[in-house]
Amino acid sequence: MAGRYKSKIGWSEVTPREVFMSRRQWMTGAAALGLGAIAGPSFANIRRNAKFSTLEEPNTFEEITSYNNFYEFGTGKDDPARFADALTTDPWSVEIDGMVERPGNYNLADILGAMDIEERVYRLRCVERWSMVIPWVGFELADMLKMAGADMNAKYVRFETLYRPDEMRGQRRRTVPWPYVEGLRMDEALHPLTFMATGLYGEEVLPNQNGAPIRLVVPWKYGFKSIKSIVKVTVQNDEPLNSWQEIAPNEYGFYANVNPNVDHPRWSQAMERRVGGGLLAKNQPTEMFNGYGEEVASLYEGMDLAKFY
Ligand code: MTE
Repeated sequence: MAGRYKSKIGWSEVTPREVFMSRRQWMTGAAALGLGAIAGPSFANIRRNAKFSTLEEPNTFEEITSYNNFYEFGTGKDDPARFADALTTDPWSVEIDGMVERPGNYNLADILGAMDIEERVYRLRCVERWSMVIPWVGFELADMLKMAGADMNAKYVRFETLYRPDEMRGQRRRTVPWPYVEGLRMDEALHPLTFMATGLYGEEVLPNQNGAPIRLVVPWKYGFKSIKSIVKVTVQNDEPLNSWQEIAPNEYGFYANVNPNVDHPRWSQAMERRVGGGLLAKNQPTEMFNGYGEEVASLYEGMDLAKFY
């Protein structure tokens, strides 16, 4: 991780917009032809970061893209796959503001051009008790924060999803106080496991239902922390109030670290169901920090992990 970030972005090194666009168009064409995860011209270059990837069998592309939580498109598991096509993901920019040296509205293509894109195969454990294994494509959040000159002594990072009810039909109802908001402590945000996904299954473009074109992935926390379709990142000293905490503070908190020993007020978190495998899908024990304890337990030394939050 160290050393590979270009502290001063040479804008000439950034992927020219035409190249990025033609890649995206190629992808769209490939998807239309049903080529799915078949490698295209640029895919072969995406290397897997083995150090941060589980050897568990990934879920299928079909499972990952048809069983989703994305309330902006409805509360049903199949609503995102049915309705997320309505979302325009290009052009897209991410506003980075707050305690940063270079605040601004960063064009997604420029961000991508400055980042080291790689694959990470992570477990995802939803607070609702289902889990998956997903091969994400993207970059470390820390690199994007450095790009904007974030004050690393700031305490928190806040994230916001797009609010566009004419394309996100779920936003026409107040199931969530829109826009969806999430947050991390700065040390969590800078952790090398904390990832910004911009693609999956070897593809450089994320399916809309999975949070296109850019979403957070924090594998040791319940899935609701992994906020989708991000348009704003703010570096600040106040602890952000995340949407689920605002909706039900007795059930969801700020930290939301996966913990099999602390039950949700309405269900046990000891076990989880790996999506796939039909009716015979096996329930398996949930691991502390979703199995990432070795990497992240030190972040919480001295904290009372018996608290759900
Ligand atoms: N982000 C937004 N903006 N809206 C959402 O409803 N759902 C969260 C999270 N990110 C959600 C979101 C929940 S509860 C989970 S489990 C994951 O997205 C699911 O990610 P996936 O559909 O890619 O598996």
